[in-house]
Amino acid sequence: MSLFNEIGPLKEAALAEMKAAADLAALEHAKGVWIGPHGKFTALMKQLGALPKEEKPAAGKAINAAKVELESALAARREELELKAALPKEPSDFTLPGRRRAVGKLHPLTQVTDDIVRAFRKIGFVVADGPELEDEFHCFDALNTPADHPARDTQDTFYVGAAENPQPEIRNPKLSLLRTHTSSVQIRVMKSQPPPVRIIAPGRVYRRDSADATHNPTFHQIEGLYVDKGVTVGDLKGTVEFVFKELMGPDVKLRFRPHYFSYTEPSLEIDFTNALVKKLGKEWLEIAGCGMVHPQVFENVGYDPEVWSGWAFGFGIERIAMLRYGINDIRLFYENDVRFLGQF
Ligand code: DAH
Repeated sequence: MSLFNEIGPLKEAALAEMKAAADLAALEHAKGVWIGPHGKFTALMKQLGALPKEEKPAAGKAINAAKVELESALAARREELELKAALPKEPSDFTLPGRRRAVGKLHPLTQVTDDIVRAFRKIGFVVADGPELEDEFHCFDALNTPADHPARDTQDTFYVGAAENPQPEIRNPKLSLLRTHTSSVQIRVMKSQPPPVRIIAPGRVYRRDSADATHNPTFHQIEGLYVDKGVTVGDLKGTVEFVFKELMGPDVKLRFRPHYFSYTEPSLEIDFTNALVKKLGKEWLEIAGCGMVHPQVFENVGYDPEVWSGWAFGFGIERIAMLRYGINDIRLFYENDVRFLGQF
């Protein structure tokens, strides 16, 4: 058989073997057998040189065409086999439900804080911040809280570093402590800017309490401070009522009771009630402390109490969240059990 006549059958045999390759390894093998450096088809090409001159052009053309055809058949089969190798071995059931991605959420305390902040922003308050690691000056002295006040007692306050003042009778306003309330932010803000002031300061506070259903050694408060000329208790009541109605709905009732705080005069406590409080079998729930800023506090930060007046308040954020969502144990907020957190 002449070389020319060999081309066709050889090509067909090579094509058949490539198409029959069951996997990529078999295909690579077939490639080697036919068009590799020592392949059968390659050998045919090498014989081209020995042909008589007049037969060379036709045979060369036929060999080249066959080679192109073989290479493209090889590439096509390779693609098929690669796809087959990438498919799952098990049959897929495309009607099965998809895998749902768990979407994260803000913690309920963060949600409540954001809502409180949003309500105060509507009436011109801005958010201020202060450190959780405070000192006696900002947490107590500047707030007119005397050294023998029970709030300073080591029962209530986490002191840091020099665990306790070695000479309690000597005041050390720089003594470090974890703030027991956000009222320290009032002092930081007033010391850093002239009046008027209209701020709220949400944040974490610390007390040496044992955890139970209504107490935890850390919890959150939101402080408010408004200083301007001619500020009254009426402004305080109106503001607090506005914010609570925004947060808890229109059926909210507030009651202001006389109280004592060293940094306000007069001082008041705010009681709260709504349908949920009644359902809990209570008439009122204490929710915040507030009052008109004490003139001594203004003196302590360099504001003239003859010119400026103001009010301040402090709410517990957990309390509000518990009322809002009907939660009966404060510790649930800190356990971070997703079954609890996922509900809000
Ligand atoms: N700091 C008080 C507390 O932790 C709450 C408070 C009462 C804040 C009266 C105030 C205020 O700003 O005027 O219980």
